[in-house]
Amino acid sequence: MIEPFAAVEVIAAKRDRNELSDAQIDWVISAYTRGVVADEQMSALLMAILLNGMTSREISRWTQAMIDSGSRLEWSGLNRPTADKHSTGGVGDKITLPLAPLVAACGGAVPQLSGRGLGHTGGTLDKLESIPGWRAELTNEEMLKVLRDCGAVICAAGSGLAPADKKLYALRDVTATVEAIPLIASSIMSKKIAEGTAALILDVKTGNGAFMRDPKEASILARTMVELGESAGVTTRALVTAMDVPLGLTVGNALEVRESVEVLAGGGPADVVELTLILAREMISAAGIVGKDPEVALKDGSAMDVWRRMIKAQGGDPDGELPWAKERHQIFATTSGRMVGMNAMKVGVAAWRLGAGRSRQGEKVQAGAGIELHAKPGHEITTGQLLMSLHTDEPERFAGALEILDGSVTIVPDGEVKRLPLIVERIQV
Ligand code: URA
Repeated sequence: MIEPFAAVEVIAAKRDRNELSDAQIDWVISAYTRGVVADEQMSALLMAILLNGMTSREISRWTQAMIDSGSRLEWSGLNRPTADKHSTGGVGDKITLPLAPLVAACGGAVPQLSGRGLGHTGGTLDKLESIPGWRAELTNEEMLKVLRDCGAVICAAGSGLAPADKKLYALRDVTATVEAIPLIASSIMSKKIAEGTAALILDVKTGNGAFMRDPKEASILARTMVELGESAGVTTRALVTAMDVPLGLTVGNALEVRESVEVLAGGGPADVVELTLILAREMISAAGIVGKDPEVALKDGSAMDVWRRMIKAQGGDPDGELPWAKERHQIFATTSGRMVGMNAMKVGVAAWRLGAGRSRQGEKVQAGAGIELHAKPGHEITTGQLLMSLHTDEPERFAGALEILDGSVTIVPDGEVKRLPLIVERIQV
């Protein structure tokens, strides 16, 4: 095959701040996926994009080219409207677990294709894999069957969805080019659009524990993704939400599953319940479902029924004993006063160091590792009060976790809690 462009011309165009043509974008994505454009050439192009940006036309075409690199799922055989949620990832963010069955209990079909965690934020699949027997890898037929029978399926995205993104994401990870809004937006949206959902709610986290720490940057990312979704025919809305403090009272795989089951049983921490309900209402409304109140579905047990069926359908035992880590270390307050802050990033990194997360793709995670928070900002604290319990199977990991947790909570004699509102911004175009 005679290639229509030379990679150096495309790189030079972006280096010189010119707009790439549709043909150049289509070619460079396809040629990179086929191995015609080399990693070092794509690295240079990615860096030029990070430094010089992309217009909305370029981002939209780049996204479409990544979708076209693989297959698209299709759910037209279902008799319910599809709706999905994507979170950019946060510490203690277990919302997908209660949310997917809750929206299904309200009449939606939720095809939630998820990933595993890398770094300080956990992955939905890692959490669910702490349930004995539960299986993340499903064939397309199995996925459709679980979705049809239960109304929701949470499973691994197969390798056929946007394979160009898989290759590009791995390259961005090692070339310091992850943090470019056009590249993040196209990466997330190519997978979500290829997944075939009709409605999509984006939860873009902001604050020290998030990927986009600055709320203004988070807002630009959210708007870029909403525009991409809408122009691809997906009803898309975004919420920019707080990730300056961990969500809920648990961080770590089995610990977070326990808390999610509490929410499905009508209990659970207020912030987790509130965000689950807000996102459920957005999904239901974007899917065009009327007259359903997710709060009722949480209280009357119908969301829990869907959860139990969904877990069973993927080989899990909803009544099985969730694992606990072998070792525990408790942290007590050394001063009295009001807790006014808790650094989500430090808590996330500590949970990761305890074994809840991985530092290389393919590494195993510990199901029981993580952190239980016994107090959160706003609580009055007395000296000697239990603040956190750390869990791990390998006690030599405690030292690294304790080191990063030093200074992670702020307790003052008298003071205001300084934190972001749970919902920072809502974006609909
Ligand atoms: N998640 C993704 O899927 N892609 C990115 O680029 C960043 C986060």
